[in-house]
Amino acid sequence: MQISSDAASLRAQVAEWRRNGERIGFVPTMGNLHGGHLRLVDEARSRSDRVVVSIFVNPTQFGPGEDYANYPRTDAADRQALQAHATDCLFAPDVETLYPDGPALRTYVAVPELNDILCGASRPGHFTGVATVVTKLLNLVQPDLAVFGLKDYQQLLVIRRLVRDLLLPVEIVGGGIAREPDGLAMSSRNAYLGDAERRRAPTLYHTLQGLAARLEAGETDYPALCAEGRRQLSAAGLQPDYLEIRRAEDLGVASPDDHNLVIPAAAYLGRARLIDNIRVHRPGGEPS
Ligand code: PAF
Repeated sequence: MQISSDAASLRAQVAEWRRNGERIGFVPTMGNLHGGHLRLVDEARSRSDRVVVSIFVNPTQFGPGEDYANYPRTDAADRQALQAHATDCLFAPDVETLYPDGPALRTYVAVPELNDILCGASRPGHFTGVATVVTKLLNLVQPDLAVFGLKDYQQLLVIRRLVRDLLLPVEIVGGGIAREPDGLAMSSRNAYLGDAERRRAPTLYHTLQGLAARLEAGETDYPALCAEGRRQLSAAGLQPDYLEIRRAEDLGVASPDDHNLVIPAAAYLGRARLIDNIRVHRPGGEPS
């Protein structure tokens, strides 16, 4: 596995593969890799000849008081895991490489229609930081395809939108959500959970599953279903940030005429902010 920390060596390597007509897959990460990330790497591997993974804890997507300084950094274990998953190149730049004039955003990419809702409402500026760094990374790697996890559903839609609007020549693939045996979605931030919190954490997914089953059975009183879901989270000791029923295609407010839905949710549990979602196809209409 080649390890690059500067743009020139990354570009030289990718250019050589491209001259050989190889298809390049890319998985951007912030490191502290777990089974969820490795599933995305395997997805990229199955669709490309070469796989590039980036590890970069992006300062511009963390708000004041968030965990940028303490975000878990596990470089040696990450390298081993990537090698075991047949990664061809690890790109691990420092902040100066991606933000030569410092991390204040002078030029940025923003997707206004998705910026301020759901996670964006609780984390102002987060998606502008994500959209900007992903645009930089796509410009540097110039992959044929890039894989992003469906767990961060809003992030995936932000990236699909920016790629479409900026005419970037890359296919965006949504990679499935990897879960622990009890249903908790894998996340680097699960490490913040104490033992008792960890036992309660799967309630988030189980609540979403219960609501999905009721939507599939034909219920359409979305506000009542969401209120009940939030009550279930609170009863289990989680503090709901949001739990909503939205249109899967664009996260717009869903009406009973919509059939392709998503239930995104976020909840605080101790030091962790958990997010998850479940997609639902209600009876009738074409699955998306
Ligand atoms: O999902 C993540 O890990 C990050 O938001 C990403 C896409 C690597 C951008 O920093």
